[in-house]
Amino acid sequence: MLTAAPPTTRTSSPTTTTTTTTTMMSARRRTMSMGSSCAFVRATKSRGTRGSAGGRRSAPSTVRVVSEGTGRFIVGGNWKCNGTRASVKELVQTLNKNVPQIEKNCDVFCCPTFLHLPYVKENLDSRFSVCAQNSWVEADLVDPEHHYDSTTGAFTGEISAEMLEDLEVPFVLLGHSERRTLLGETDEIVGKKVAHARYHGLSVVVCIGESLEERENGTTFDVIFKQLKAVAKEIDDREHSSWGSSVVIAYEPIWAIGTGKVATPEQVQEVHSKIRNWLAENVSEDVAKATRIQYGGSVNASNCADLAKLSDIDGFLVGGASLNGDDFAAICNASSVHYKAVGR
Ligand code: PGA
Repeated sequence: MLTAAPPTTRTSSPTTTTTTTTTMMSARRRTMSMGSSCAFVRATKSRGTRGSAGGRRSAPSTVRVVSEGTGRFIVGGNWKCNGTRASVKELVQTLNKNVPQIEKNCDVFCCPTFLHLPYVKENLDSRFSVCAQNSWVEADLVDPEHHYDSTTGAFTGEISAEMLEDLEVPFVLLGHSERRTLLGETDEIVGKKVAHARYHGLSVVVCIGESLEERENGTTFDVIFKQLKAVAKEIDDREHSSWGSSVVIAYEPIWAIGTGKVATPEQVQEVHSKIRNWLAENVSEDVAKATRIQYGGSVNASNCADLAKLSDIDGFLVGGASLNGDDFAAICNASSVHYKAVGR
């Protein structure tokens, strides 16, 4: 029997830390190290906890407004569809060179392409976790009319969560807006992908965010809450206890991605605090506090400090600027600005 590293949940005041130790109910539940200083609880692998909306807790009768997160700062580098063998090697070298300068108070992950993932996993310092950019779901979740003998199979061009588990990749990015808009991934599919990845013990970073049109016509929160609902629906009561340590939300307004047009701190704070309140009302207050909410969209080494001061920001998901190892290290160190600003 394995015992998971305790998920740490801070409650009440920002200076009080309550640590909960979870004894694993089966040897299936394992921990997978994320970088040098953070452990992830791997979801219990049982049919009953996968993709089931059954037994969902109804919203608590009194919901206290949760104003800030309590998790460790977390910064991810989304390399997207970039890199050659030579450029990836160079980026890995630059990141490794920066390890002594990167604050210890921050979790960091990098998302190379599937092609480069084994090389990066092998060669990148363990200070950085590796994260896949997508994973496929179990066949019968997307095609319930048919029964498949295998959870992998005839899905040309896809990579399954099982394969990531086999490769010991601890993390997967799901629902990025580029996949939602260019490849037609629906909220429902993203929710199922989250459930399936967690079933295979992966921690997930779920991307949500509105388009410019949606922001301008005032439907930002309808869009975001619908995206969140599709994820929460797939995670049942038993799994909520590990949500905070294994689900990261990345708020990425589509209009800010790759455009150089970063959202203002006020816009980010408003959305992040509403996401947290949504989680408090629809999942649980503990989950709301423990869930880390990253901001993504044109974050760079110059604008990260202003954003990091916000109480409800728990980190960044960085695209373009993560391809420069020195800049990415500087963005990771915005963690110290954050802790100072929120008095932690
Ligand atoms: P960007 O991308 O930092 O290049 O805007 C962020 C993302 O898409 O994750």
